[in-house]
Amino acid sequence: MIRESIVITTDLKKKPHVVPMGITFNKKKLFISPFVPSKTYLNLKENPYAVINFTDDVNIFVDALLGKKNFNIQSTKKIKSFYLKNALSYIEVKVIKFIENKIRPRFECKILKETSIDSFKGFNRAQLSVIEAAILVSRIDLLPMKKIKKEINYLKIAIDKTAGKNEKIAWKKLIKKLNDKNA
Ligand SMILES: Cc1cc2nc3c(=O)[nH]c(=O)nc-3n(C[C@H](O)[C@H](O)[C@H](O)COP(=O)(O)O)c2cc1C
Repeated sequence: MIRESIVITTDLKKKPHVVPMGITFNKKKLFISPFVPSKTYLNLKENPYAVINFTDDVNIFVDALLGKKNFNIQSTKKIKSFYLKNALSYIEVKVIKFIENKIRPRFECKILKETSIDSFKGFNRAQLSVIEAAILVSRIDLLPMKKIKKEINYLKIAIDKTAGKNEKIAWKKLIKKLNDKNA
């Protein structure tokens, strides 16, 4: 199963890089699969540690995707990295194996520490729509605009019916990005 998370990696100068990324894991191992080229890939090659954050704040997914640099982060205890202050939980990992692939290599990681901050508050359909729309925006240069628009129209149903303030803000940012591209 793929779980959508916020991955924080750091370079050797300890500069954090925050991105949405789909990860997989079981009790002991976790896999991160960044495309090549990407900053996450370079960081993991240089400094084999990461923090996987789970959050229901969809604005973090959108802001990170759209290139925002400053997030509310704090130092982790087990490894020299950072976690999102409003994560529900986070996992500190160390890369133990690199599985080469020209397009999408995989970093196999050992789970070093799991930390729980807050409880899961249940699914919200608008949040799922924002995540799906963020995926579409991340593929804006690869997918036909007609397909993107059709899917956005469907995803908007859950936004209109179930979104809170935070989800509406996140949704607007994604629509603006699509409109700017389309202009
Ligand atoms: C929900 C979501 C999941 C994503 N999952 C991945 C992923 O598994 N691998 C990846 O390379 N990019 C993924 N992306 C796209 C990256 O977040 C985005 O392209 C990012 O800029 C990665 O490049 P960077 O490390 O150079 O910043 C995802 C985007 C979203 C919105």
